[in-house]
Amino acid sequence: MLEDSFGRRFRYLRVSITEACNFRCQYCLPDGYDGPDNSAFMSLTEVQTLMTAFARMGTTKIRITGGEPSLRKDFTEIIQAAVNTPGIQKVATTTHGARLAKDAHKWAQAGLDQVNVSIDSLDPNQFALITGQNKLEQILKGLDVAVDAGLDVKVNTVLLQDFSPARLTRFLDWLKITPVTLRFIELMETGEHKAFFKSQHMSGQPIKDRLLAEGWQPVIRRKDAGPAQEFSHPDYAGKIGLIMPYSKDFCKSCNRLRVSASGKLHLCLFSEQGLDLRHLLKAGDTDALMQFVHDALNSKHVSHYLQDGMTGATKHLAMLGG
Ligand code: 5AD
Ligand code: SF4
Repeated sequence: MLEDSFGRRFRYLRVSITEACNFRCQYCLPDGYDGPDNSAFMSLTEVQTLMTAFARMGTTKIRITGGEPSLRKDFTEIIQAAVNTPGIQKVATTTHGARLAKDAHKWAQAGLDQVNVSIDSLDPNQFALITGQNKLEQILKGLDVAVDAGLDVKVNTVLLQDFSPARLTRFLDWLKITPVTLRFIELMETGEHKAFFKSQHMSGQPIKDRLLAEGWQPVIRRKDAGPAQEFSHPDYAGKIGLIMPYSKDFCKSCNRLRVSASGKLHLCLFSEQGLDLRHLLKAGDTDALMQFVHDALNSKHVSHYLQDGMTGATKHLAMLGG
């Protein structure tokens, strides 16, 4: 079992399979992706080796992230490989959602359980402004297809300063009839976007206050719950989550480790550096990988120190899939 020196246990692995993305979200890749192509990143076999080693150390849930993971031609095979790894009980992914309408059924058939889709606004123009892609309608259609395919669907919305009460009302109206969990994520400061962060960061607290005032009830947290505080309401088909990385004790419930597309282990989203696993992955050496990860975990810190403006090596989240 993977456990760090603060008693936190890690059963959840987030594997990024590409840094590439064809969206240009203002807080992530405002100028678009301009890096190596997919041949630079871990191969299917390397990803398989990685997942096997982690599953042998007690990992039960894998999230496949990016960049945009669906830009990999072998994405469905990677889902399948995760599903077929002994010990893995849940396979999830995070996507911009542009391919859901076309591929959600295929991914569900491969065994995918859960999908997180980023939707920062329900207004098509504003959506296009934030993401650089005029695809809100296509993505909303994709959400319906994903629900229809039996996937557990969550929607991520990054909170930005212009997130007005009217925008929240629009999201709430949508949740009345849409059976998804909508999670509001506070903007996190990354190395390349310090000025953007300063002008755009907004706390999730006012939203929490409004939800509680309007009769939303906190959902009892499961033991393996991630950092989102969840709320439900009898009049709504959907649920709401709040992810507030700047709140006190956020890191106490940390249950995840991350591996970048180039095969580096990140003990935290905001670590100073990734620890290179690539040679062990290339060699297919699961025993050595297990030993390495086990030892590395001793150096995991208690907090991300984001409050102090420490963003580590994380230039933007396309590097590491959030
Ligand atoms: N702060 C908060 N969330 C972010 N995401 C990307 N960059 C940031 C950031 N700086 C979100 C995306 C996506 C998830 C992977 O991370 O919107 O939903
Ligand atoms: Fe692409 Fe996701 Fe970054 Fe947006 S947040 S640019 S969809 S990787």
